[in-house]
Amino acid sequence: MQKSILILGACGQIGTELTYVLRKKHGATTVIASDIREGNESLMNSGPFELLDATDYNALEEVIAYYEISEVYLMAAMLSATAEKFPMRAWNLNMNSLFNVLNLAKEKKIDKIFWPSSIAVFGPNTPVDDTPQNTIMEPSTVYGISKQSGERWCNYYHQKFGVDVRSIRYPGLISYKTMPGGGTTDYAVEIYHKALSSQTYTCFLKKDTKLPMMFMDDAIRATLMLMESHPNSIKIRSSYNLAGMSFCPEEIAESIKREIPGFTIDYKPDFRQEIADSWPNSIDDSMARMHWGWQSEFDLERTTREMLYNLKENKQ
Ligand SMILES: NC(=O)c1ccc[n+]([C@@H]2O[C@H](COP(=O)([O-])OP(=O)(O)OC[C@H]3O[C@@H](n4cnc5c(N)ncnc54)[C@H](O)[C@@H]3O)[C@@H](O)[C@H]2O)c1
Repeated sequence: MQKSILILGACGQIGTELTYVLRKKHGATTVIASDIREGNESLMNSGPFELLDATDYNALEEVIAYYEISEVYLMAAMLSATAEKFPMRAWNLNMNSLFNVLNLAKEKKIDKIFWPSSIAVFGPNTPVDDTPQNTIMEPSTVYGISKQSGERWCNYYHQKFGVDVRSIRYPGLISYKTMPGGGTTDYAVEIYHKALSSQTYTCFLKKDTKLPMMFMDDAIRATLMLMESHPNSIKIRSSYNLAGMSFCPEEIAESIKREIPGFTIDYKPDFRQEIADSWPNSIDDSMARMHWGWQSEFDLERTTREMLYNLKENKQ
């Protein structure tokens, strides 16, 4: 009998698209979406859904037994900008949800876990260009500290208990199906919405703040590639560096102007500038390329065309 997949935090920016792709691949009833809130209508209509708090071990255990879950994707978390406002809530959610799934795997109640880390594990003392897999980290944000700790715990559970946990340090993700959930790279999604609705955008980062970014299709493809890889080819059990593209607000604005000539941008940096300043400009993902064959497909120009085209289509 085919075992099922559970997605925790399925109504968020990544979880929504991950749910669609996994359902297309494995069949709708095999993929159980869950979150502490309901998602958009098309997600809710696409297959089974459970209201589930990822920090509640007993509730997780019950759902896992009921649906005979073998694989868990843990997408529930509090993101970088919001976590600065609610540090203890962020720590509790980000760490306890991870401990829950790691302990369920340790108890052999599930076989495989995907847990995302982030470029936020890096900090002001990290080399900023082509940031290597192994380097100084020293994150300076609540979110980054929780992700770095999470990485160490993933590695620990793999080494000590043989838990099959797999992870990627996602860059900032750009998508059109769901709005981002309170991160420092959210500007790179908002800008496309504003370009279409009012042809102008006020950016909360400075014009030359370069950050690693990725189009959602690449991020989902990487996630599935990693999860489908043979366990022996996964040599890093903390989390893999992953790169798509790198750009600053001025460059994304230029790429939009090539499609919408009247588009204008101005800059009013807020508290998120300091977070962005502590993160790398670009990422060296050679380990992901070498170990499981990763290669990105979307550059900035292609991303801009996809975003504008699909946002326009969705409005009609
Ligand atoms: N989006 C990005 O650019 C990005 C970049 C790097 C890493 N990540 C990581 O990827 C993961 C998913 O990110 P996202 O952008 O989809 O986040 P999001 O904020 O869009 O979605 C998170 C979801 O988790 C849900 N949630 C919150 N508390 C919960 C709880 N107690 N139980 C169950 N669900 C709960 C929320 O309702 C939300 O739907 C996170 O771990 C995040 O840190 C995201």
